[in-house]
Amino acid sequence: MILDLKSKTIMNKEIESLWRGTSVELLKALHILTRDGKLNADSRRKLKQVQHLTQLMEPMIQKIAKIQGKISVVDMGAGKSYLGFVLYDLILKNLPEPRLISIESRSELIEKSKKLAEDSQFDGMHFLAASIEEAKLDEPIDLVCALHACDTATDDAIAFGIRQNAKAFALVPCCQAEIAGQLNQVKGAELSPLAKHPLHRREFGSHLTNVIRTLYLSSLGYQVTVTELVGWEHSMKNELILAEKRSSPDHPESLKSKAALIKLLSEYHVNPKLTRLAGIEIADLA
Ligand SMILES: C[S@@+](CC[C@H](N)C(=O)[O-])C[C@H]1O[C@@H](n2cnc3c(N)ncnc32)[C@H](O)[C@@H]1O
Repeated sequence: MILDLKSKTIMNKEIESLWRGTSVELLKALHILTRDGKLNADSRRKLKQVQHLTQLMEPMIQKIAKIQGKISVVDMGAGKSYLGFVLYDLILKNLPEPRLISIESRSELIEKSKKLAEDSQFDGMHFLAASIEEAKLDEPIDLVCALHACDTATDDAIAFGIRQNAKAFALVPCCQAEIAGQLNQVKGAELSPLAKHPLHRREFGSHLTNVIRTLYLSSLGYQVTVTELVGWEHSMKNELILAEKRSSPDHPESLKSKAALIKLLSEYHVNPKLTRLAGIEIADLA
């Protein structure tokens, strides 16, 4: 079956105002819309979030495509590949030689997405059932995105992009438990008041994790922007980290970020997966 992506017959006013894509058929196939074309609160939130992220990513996508004449994007921890399908439908399919590779450890989700991409005739969409840590691609990757990749999966996505020499990242991290656990294990040192109570420890740990990610990317020459994805009423996991490669690790600004990163890791006695993967050793960790 080939999806008729041009069909607009059942698009009601609300969906018309929300959806910038070619057809509601894709939204139905993604189960964002019910069979009779309705949106529930969760899917409305998801649609707004993914479309907004797509909009925020568009300038970097267009820039890369203009410079290179083509673009290759990887979506890490893709889940049902909402982001991939929306990115492809709204932007990538209108560019020359688009490639979008969704990587997801749950093979049943990959199989469904593969079928939907075939039905939609989205020939530039590809799928890999694998964990991000083990995923290997023998091709250049320009942009790595990860929307709500759980806990340290965002770190794996960053490490993957660095290995592949990615030009840009778009990351919306998810639940981050690793550092909160490390903050609680410092031996012989009193916990910072910032992390004394479990709830603060979780929130502060999450904040610290993202600060470490941004400093790490800056230390490698990426220019980083941190912003809100959508209004907080739509999602609690709302921090968007955009990074574009602008200089090299030996640029003075990169070196400054590296020094700030080492100082921060030492100060809080933490060494998350990202900095471990990068081989950064913190001598005085407990
Ligand atoms: C919260 S869901 C987000 C899915 C999708 N990005 C979205 O926003 O709709 C996180 C997804 O990441 C996948 N995932 C988590 N850790 C992963 C890993 N290390 N490698 C590959 N996939 C992973 C999970 O199976 C899950 O489908």
